[in-house]
Amino acid sequence: MNDNNKMLQAVAWDDETQAVILLDQRALPDTEKYIACQSVEQVANCIENMTVRGAPAIGITAAYGIALAALNSDRLEITDNNYKLKIINQAFERLAKTRPTAVNLFTALERMRACFENNKENLKLNNLLLEEAKIIHDEDIANNKRMGEFGAKLLPDDAVILTHCNAGAIATGGHGTALGVLRSAREAGKKIKVYADETRPLFQGARLTAWELARDNFDVTLITDSMAGALMKSKKISAVIVGADRIAKNGDTANKIGTYGLSVIAKAHGVPFYIAAPFTTLDFKAESGADIPIEERSESEMRILVNNQHVPDSVKVWNPAFDVTPSENITAIITERGVFFPPFKFEN
Ligand code: MRU
Repeated sequence: MNDNNKMLQAVAWDDETQAVILLDQRALPDTEKYIACQSVEQVANCIENMTVRGAPAIGITAAYGIALAALNSDRLEITDNNYKLKIINQAFERLAKTRPTAVNLFTALERMRACFENNKENLKLNNLLLEEAKIIHDEDIANNKRMGEFGAKLLPDDAVILTHCNAGAIATGGHGTALGVLRSAREAGKKIKVYADETRPLFQGARLTAWELARDNFDVTLITDSMAGALMKSKKISAVIVGADRIAKNGDTANKIGTYGLSVIAKAHGVPFYIAAPFTTLDFKAESGADIPIEERSESEMRILVNNQHVPDSVKVWNPAFDVTPSENITAIITERGVFFPPFKFEN
């Protein structure tokens, strides 16, 4: 197996140094470098500045962040258990404030919270929290593979796919959601050609998806976001497949800004529009897309292009990171529990 075939990992736990290791996705595709986080603040910063990004990868990173908080209190030789519990509680609060839309962050923190509450007085609390984070990580990879098998069956033997942002191995524990479906389809013997949207303003499609797919020897072609309409009009596209940051109970789906527009174009051209996401992306508290908070990010992400300012300071900038695709534009939602078709009804 050559290096290119090794499964890409956005997040890992290093037992030896007791650190969360993150692939620095801001440096891709130029440089493949890793950052070792040994404090909760460092983990939180890496989620905020998108060293690590993609809803499932954010959740897994935060889970390791909680384990890190517990282990660090021993490293700092804190002997007062109440003080240690306070530090862990502060870690929950800090990590929950990093990114608002990706619900996997909160799903993972809730699981870690349950483990924490059940074992507060247990002398093995540190190990139990670390074990729980590792389970969340392993489950995500297994879910992606399962989802991939379900999704692969929806694709023709010779498929041409359009995807947006990066819902690949590096946005998850491994394998990927939307790109995981493509990997599984190829493993099942299907021929897959992919068009990747650039995905402005941070170019996750160009920098991450095109790189990840090319590294995995996929036939991938890059387009700018504004070319998607012409592409669906002029070429035979088998399906659009994207990931999700949060899915409401009625199927309305928040994903990277630009996804909604793609769904409208796909509908206009009769192209199936698939969401691939694990159940950890479902928000059973959100009745519809109106209940999903949309993150707005720094203006500088739009003003500055590869370190060169190309927008005058005097121009106003609106930079929502996500949009909501209404369920009526979605052909199916692919999960590890099977493929759901409208009208969407999910049970926890
Ligand atoms: O802002 P990002 O890069 O974290 O946005 C990521 C996306 O929108 C992905 O499509 C989504 O998180 C699904 S990742 C499997």
